[in-house]
Amino acid sequence: MRLSGKVAIITGGAGGIGKETALLFAREGAKVVVQDMNAEGAKAVAGEIGKAGGEAIAVTGDVTKRAECERIVGEAVSKFGRLDILINNAGINKDSMVKKMTEEQWDAVLSVNLKGTFLMCQAALAPMSQAKYGRIVNTASIGALGNIGQANYSASKAGVIGLTCTLALEFARSGIAVNAVSPGATETQMTAGIPAEIKKGIEDRIPAKRFAKPSEIANAHLFLASDDASYVTGQTLFVDGGISVGI
Ligand SMILES: NC(=O)c1ccc[n+]([C@@H]2O[C@H](COP(=O)([O-])OP(=O)(O)OC[C@H]3O[C@@H](n4cnc5c(N)ncnc54)[C@H](O)[C@@H]3O)[C@@H](O)[C@H]2O)c1
Repeated sequence: MRLSGKVAIITGGAGGIGKETALLFAREGAKVVVQDMNAEGAKAVAGEIGKAGGEAIAVTGDVTKRAECERIVGEAVSKFGRLDILINNAGINKDSMVKKMTEEQWDAVLSVNLKGTFLMCQAALAPMSQAKYGRIVNTASIGALGNIGQANYSASKAGVIGLTCTLALEFARSGIAVNAVSPGATETQMTAGIPAEIKKGIEDRIPAKRFAKPSEIANAHLFLASDDASYVTGQTLFVDGGISVGI
């Protein structure tokens, strides 16, 4: 098992990529804090882990609020005695063409995706710095490279990549690695509403000709959270079926 004895917080763990990551980390021996705004969903995932013989708690909270992020980290440390891994997976999109994008759409997406990632990192870095050990994986997106109708989302995810680089530099000497995973289109609630013909058009543009399964993103989280990646920091791993390369 690659995460034996490790304690991991996974934000946005109630569904999609976060849920798959929580289940995988538990199978790999981690004690998992399933964090989400969706209390029922987080409880269900923690329950599933428990039934399978793993250890998990559900912690509800909104990552856009500093006090909530500190409470989430506090609950993890008080329940399990330490914090080794933070997967900043919580994210939203509110798509609109730039001409029509409202200030509310901009603020909401930047707030969850970028500010929430920053606040969770800040809160987690306190116990990690003390322990001189930590693995943080942030969630970017191929959207960081630009996508029509997603100015807010693109900006938030490009921001996550920059934040990841700076955190890596500031904390490398403290034994803390900070990396990002940049998924391509993935089969989750976030993409479930894409009309079939538009989805087909996206699939045609992906070299692998299909969306990712959430488990394929979870596998990248596992690599970067494990000691297999002990000398990897400040990197963004694109898990996208090849769409971000080529001409
Ligand atoms: N699905 C894709 O195609 C895709 C592609 C690239 C990147 N991503 C990113 O992957 C991550 C996971 O997305 P997903 O596709 O599994 O989506 P999802 O909607 O299934 O899961 C996101 C989770 O985040 C939670 N959440 C939202 N706001 C929150 C907040 N303020 N505090 C705590 N939790 C909150 C939601 O309740 C939800 O459970 C996101 O950061 C997303 O931007 C997804």
